[in-house]
Amino acid sequence: MPENTQPSVIGKPQIRIDGPFKVSGTAMYATDHNFPGMLYGVPVEATIASGKIQKLDTSAAEKMPGVRAIFHRANIGKISRSTPGEGFERICVERRPPFEDDVVRYYGQYVALAVADTFEVAKAAADAVRVTYDKQKPNVEADLQPDDDPEEIATTYGPVKRLQSERGDPENAFAKAAVKINQTYATPSETHNPIELQAATAIWDGDKLTIYEESQSIFNMRDVIAQMFGLPKENVRVITKFVGSGFGSKLWPWTHCPLACAAARQLGRPVKLILSRRMTFQSAGHRARTQQLVSLQHDYVYERSMLDNYHEDCGEATAFHYSVPNLRVKFGRAKRHIGTPSDMRGPGAVPGLYATESAMNELADELKMDPVKLRVLNEPKIDESLGIPFSSRHYVECLELGAEKFGWSKRNAQVGSMKQNGLTLGWGMAGAAWVAARFPAAASIELRDDGTVRVASGTQDIGTGTYTILAQLAAQKTGVALDKVEVALGDTTLPEGPISGGSMATGSLVPAVFAAADNAITSLLSIATTTPGSPYEKRKSDDLAFEGGRVFVKADGPSGGVPFADLLRRANVRLVSGHGSAEATFGEKKPKFSTHSFGCHFVEVTWQPEIARLRVNRVVTVIDAGRIINPLAGRNQIEGAVVMGIGMALLEHTTYDPQNGAPINSNLADYMVAVNADVPPLDVHFLDFPDKEINELGARGIGEIGLAGIAAAITAAVHHATGVRVRELPVTLDKLI
Ligand code: MOS
Repeated sequence: MPENTQPSVIGKPQIRIDGPFKVSGTAMYATDHNFPGMLYGVPVEATIASGKIQKLDTSAAEKMPGVRAIFHRANIGKISRSTPGEGFERICVERRPPFEDDVVRYYGQYVALAVADTFEVAKAAADAVRVTYDKQKPNVEADLQPDDDPEEIATTYGPVKRLQSERGDPENAFAKAAVKINQTYATPSETHNPIELQAATAIWDGDKLTIYEESQSIFNMRDVIAQMFGLPKENVRVITKFVGSGFGSKLWPWTHCPLACAAARQLGRPVKLILSRRMTFQSAGHRARTQQLVSLQHDYVYERSMLDNYHEDCGEATAFHYSVPNLRVKFGRAKRHIGTPSDMRGPGAVPGLYATESAMNELADELKMDPVKLRVLNEPKIDESLGIPFSSRHYVECLELGAEKFGWSKRNAQVGSMKQNGLTLGWGMAGAAWVAARFPAAASIELRDDGTVRVASGTQDIGTGTYTILAQLAAQKTGVALDKVEVALGDTTLPEGPISGGSMATGSLVPAVFAAADNAITSLLSIATTTPGSPYEKRKSDDLAFEGGRVFVKADGPSGGVPFADLLRRANVRLVSGHGSAEATFGEKKPKFSTHSFGCHFVEVTWQPEIARLRVNRVVTVIDAGRIINPLAGRNQIEGAVVMGIGMALLEHTTYDPQNGAPINSNLADYMVAVNADVPPLDVHFLDFPDKEINELGARGIGEIGLAGIAAAITAAVHHATGVRVRELPVTLDKLI
């Protein structure tokens, strides 16, 4: 439908349609669902990081009143391994099913499970299980040296070559370079801390299994769990109506989910299993520690667990971000006795860009050049790593607008030279990039005889605004007001929707919802032309048009026409429906375009050396993410990412105890994230260059790009204020004094 003939709901700030449910407490999160006879499970966590279970004494725990069972390797029943499917299917980072063997490979690995009538009794019983270990010294060494790995390795997402990208002769070019930067940057292990804890409630009905879980990808979870329990996938239903955020930690199934399913199977009762905050630090993923050597080469090492192959792709943006004839990107891995790392908001690119953008800033300083100018001078015309054009790249415009909004021209590059109200100011900037693509998606639309519309897709809303986006897309195509659109998501009985990951849900949904609407409208027009007594009975469908919720004769124009609800009522049809789907572009073997979003951050910090007080005082962020469907939710995404970036730069790091391998700051008091008091006013701007390669609206994703580059901008500002280069995050105050 032409967008210029009716008022558009696309690109207008829309408040969340699910907001009232959240503020009134009626939004049902995964653990809000309770069932008759439901039992509670609490896992027993290993208190060593390396060794073997010698003896498991469950006798005291089993005798506690209200305890239904203590499960362990001998009595949990069969849980099979899952395997990856073709393409992006059945992704699971920690493949080992719980209790598969007696070996402990990380602190907090589940070694038993107490199930009881109440959570409190289950917790007491879990605490009463006595485990004796044959204990070995764990390797949680922070300094990462690459293990001996083959040139091509298996990863969670399939095989990957360790030499990711190469062009020209980087070694020779570096040897001859007039100015050289050759620095190592380190990013620590970080742990996702969404407010909502991970949890699973499993209910069996014969050989049918229903799981309530706060998943970022319900269909993937269905497929993994179906395989682990030997079920056809149509026998497994996953329901996720609301998610209290995820940051990637809820993308793939963790071992608590099969544990809840197995316990429920053994006991014939629903079992709910909620992780503690500490458990989420141990066994539900984290961002891998990285060490990255950047020159004309980008060599990086990341940590991984003993069994799993999670790949932290720090080179994601390196090979295309700037024009450079000689370049090499290569990685290695280092095994540690830790729970497996996994995706965390902007996986790979976020730590990667911290290193490469920091190196760009250091190079600019060496050259005594404005870091903005250095970036503009090295703007590539095409993606030089693939030799194909960008679908839409407006990075230079981001830099120009950011510099203008920030007042960058007033910068004095001299360290410590800028003062304000008795404080030393530090200014820094950095660029950002994040992949854009589509996952496969399907959706359905119903037009109903009461003038309402229902749009459905089995995707998730992880707090990012997907309910509202789906309503906007349906409203745009049907002309119905937003409050007349019902949105259904978060259930594997719905058409298969995209994962809420990679910032790709919105972009993937656009073509699926639009195709579904077109099909529903086709069905409506055929009713209009075939129903006896219809005003359009003698017409052909081709003569008719649908716009703004009304059917009209094309030749007469849209001023007349009949509301679709009238046509349905006349025909005694309650609803017409349409189904639509769209293919993935993610992982295309021979893409025609290089598709990414771009952006930049300009940061001001204040520094008081007398009291060692460092504050982020001002941030200007400009994002080129194509068309923004909901600027209100969109701005909120970028602001949230910048807040997380302040935490990444200054606060967040998970520390492992060298003695027992435990993540020792595994709670929200000791693991610091940025809070309101750390965050200044944030000034977010979106460019508006629709990217029609992604979908017909030109909308790319915005969930992750806001976190890319921000830490490098902050460390540059810290250097400008203090003269100290911090190359290992976070910038704790001891590094500045
Ligand atoms: Mo994001 S790490 O793809 O949830």
